Amino acid sequence: MADKNRKWVLKSRPRGLVERGNFEWKEEPLPAIGDGEFLVRNLWLSCDPTQRGWMERDTYVPAVGIGEVMRSVSAGQVVESKHPGFRAGDLVSGAFGWQDYALNNESDLMPVTKVPEGVPLTLPLGTLGITSLTAYFGLRDIGKPEPGETVVVSGAAGATGSVAGQIAKIRGCRVVGIAGGADKCEWLTGELGFDAAIDYKFEKVSARLRELCPQGIDVFWDNVGGEMLEAALSNIAMGGRIVICGAISAYNATEPPPGPRNYMNLLARRARMEGFVVFDYLDRTDEAMAELVPWVMQGKIRYREDVRDGLENAPQALLDLFSGGNTGKLIVKIADPEAAES
Ligand SMILES: NC(=O)c1ccc[n+]([C@@H]2O[C@H](COP(=O)([O-])OP(=O)(O)OC[C@H]3O[C@@H](n4cnc5c(N)ncnc54)[C@H](OP(=O)(O)O)[C@@H]3O)[C@@H](O)[C@H]2O)c1
Repeated sequence: MADKNRKWVLKSRPRGLVERGNFEWKEEPLPAIGDGEFLVRNLWLSCDPTQRGWMERDTYVPAVGIGEVMRSVSAGQVVESKHPGFRAGDLVSGAFGWQDYALNNESDLMPVTKVPEGVPLTLPLGTLGITSLTAYFGLRDIGKPEPGETVVVSGAAGATGSVAGQIAKIRGCRVVGIAGGADKCEWLTGELGFDAAIDYKFEKVSARLRELCPQGIDVFWDNVGGEMLEAALSNIAMGGRIVICGAISAYNATEPPPGPRNYMNLLARRARMEGFVVFDYLDRTDEAMAELVPWVMQGKIRYREDVRDGLENAPQALLDLFSGGNTGKLIVKIADPEAAES
């Protein structure tokens, strides 16, 4: 075990785009553990657009405090324990933050869960974790696609969108993805089996949606907001459902953008738009995993992990989410499991 804890703390709240200068690097002695506590050697960090919101203000969870370690969903190994439920060597996921070691007795954001034997430690961060739970419950409970319906996904080549689209395919839908760049679109229609893809950086989204969805969009899964949402609203089918998963195009805006100008299409087409937060569904994780695990094992859900190296690169990794630098789930590797055992 190392004798110091390296960490990124929040130094200032972002105004506009997140900057490296919003974080401060610190090195401190390892914390001593008390009764009921356990120490986790962090091995992998999940990069999530929502971290931008956590830095700025109270959202569905309180903002990260100035001077506090940057919050992050992560996975690691228990290296020392005075907690009856955890033993040294256990592989766990939780909200351990941007640091080498986390002293933990459960967080208010998410419970610490043990990673089952044989499951790669990165999967609970994405494909068998928050990412897929988001896609699963957002589609199942909010979008409710029926076989034969047309589902359109924005941010489709990212972690959540790629899984949402594949689940819609499993449910028997026709799926169109929207992503930035030819490589991403090829991945969607090739390996992932989407029926079509729109490269929003080179194509006119609304016109392409009209061509590709002549009967309208039955379910629009929105990760992006802004103009993408307006394009979908223009093409929403009678009785369509818009799942507000996120609005990444606005996360770094200094002024909130005006709402969708054509929202009255909801009225004309008897459609609805609804948001949700995955953390409200965590007590139903087993229900989702009963379907997700076999789908992943059988290759019905394919995934890509986009790995960056080193705790020191965590701020840059977070920034990459906002420029489309990732395909699939973006994660940061900060140590090997062997390091935790030595
Ligand atoms: N509701 C919930 O509980 C919940 C839970 C998890 C995630 N989310 C939301 O789901 C969305 C996706 O999250 P994720 O973790 O899966 O990230 P991700 O999709 O893996 O990464 C973000 C992607 O967003 C796209 N993007 C970034 N800026 C954009 C812009 N200005 N316009 C259009 N596209 C842009 C980029 O792809 P391109 O190259 O295609 O532009 C980028 O790769 C986010 O909005 C997030 O907040 C919501």
